[in-house]
Amino acid sequence: MELKIGLLPGDGIGPEVIKEAVKVLDSIANKFNHKIFWNEGLVGAAAIDVTGDPYPDETHKICLNSDAVLFGAVGDPKYDNDPTAKIRPEEGLLRMRKKLGLYANIRPTYTFDSLLEKSPIKKSIIQGTDLVFVRELTGGIYFGKRGRNKTDDYAYDTCEYNVNEIKRLAKIGFELAMKRSKKLCCIDKANVLETSRLWRQTVQSLEKNYPEVNVSYEFVDAVAMRLIHSPSYYDVLITSNLFGDILTDEASVISGSMGLMPSASVGVETSIYEPIHGSFPQAKGKNIANPLATILSASMMFERSFNLYEESKLIRDLVNESISNNIVTKDLSGDGKSFTTEEVGDWIVERIRKK
Ligand code: IPM
Ligand code: MN
Repeated sequence: MELKIGLLPGDGIGPEVIKEAVKVLDSIANKFNHKIFWNEGLVGAAAIDVTGDPYPDETHKICLNSDAVLFGAVGDPKYDNDPTAKIRPEEGLLRMRKKLGLYANIRPTYTFDSLLEKSPIKKSIIQGTDLVFVRELTGGIYFGKRGRNKTDDYAYDTCEYNVNEIKRLAKIGFELAMKRSKKLCCIDKANVLETSRLWRQTVQSLEKNYPEVNVSYEFVDAVAMRLIHSPSYYDVLITSNLFGDILTDEASVISGSMGLMPSASVGVETSIYEPIHGSFPQAKGKNIANPLATILSASMMFERSFNLYEESKLIRDLVNESISNNIVTKDLSGDGKSFTTEEVGDWIVERIRKK
């Protein structure tokens, strides 16, 4: 099979983790007789440096002309520390999501047997956790009206949602729930926010189309607590953009590291696969970043965009193997020996060759 994959390494540790995922995918393609056509583009601060734009048209074209896109990370401290900056790397990611209509971000959270003991949460609590967040990605407070007044001493961000945005996101959640344990949790703050009340009302109106799905409605503050207290209670969770952003970082503690969390952004145009960890500038250039979240994102890509299940599973299995053999980066090695970003990638590539 011929696979046209867009590649957007971006900033910080993005290029380093992407490089390992490319190595892994190339060797998978070699083994299974596929041909990958890589098409690399600029995004984030890397794109601002060259073009002045964090999501240049050229990059948008690459996305539109690819079957799937692998994305690293965006962000650079030189913008974070300057609240007056006119353009920001993150804007590139947000504009990309919006222009491609990627309204749903699928973020699975599960545990790895060999990491259960290493979590700051008790093994008895996290054991058996297998849940998926479906985060709304192109609406809400991320895209609502925002601004400042003339005297620059007042600022506002608004959260807006319409019924269609909620419906299309909820449908993805219901369909995923049908394929899993038919349990769906809608997370909102309907005791306070009007947008949350519209979410609840809209999701309720869809329940009749999925009579087998058991739907619960929970407030975001309570979910933040229950997620740590009894994570295995949850299966599929749907929520708005900001709540999903916050809760999925929280959920990474259950898996063991932010460096293990893959995601798929899906919707109208080409799907984007990306680790959720961000650009982690402190680790940039040090060869210590965990490449597994990006490699797992690539595995999600093979499954979702190409229906290549065997290839996808092999990648996942080898990630599991590398973790259980302690071939892991610093974030996971604890007191044991840690491996570099490249060594982890090399180990997986070597295993693919031998299988
Ligand atoms: C994420 C990131 C982004 C977000 C940032 C980089 C804009 O944190 O993908 O979770 O908030 O969506
Ligand atoms: Mn985030």
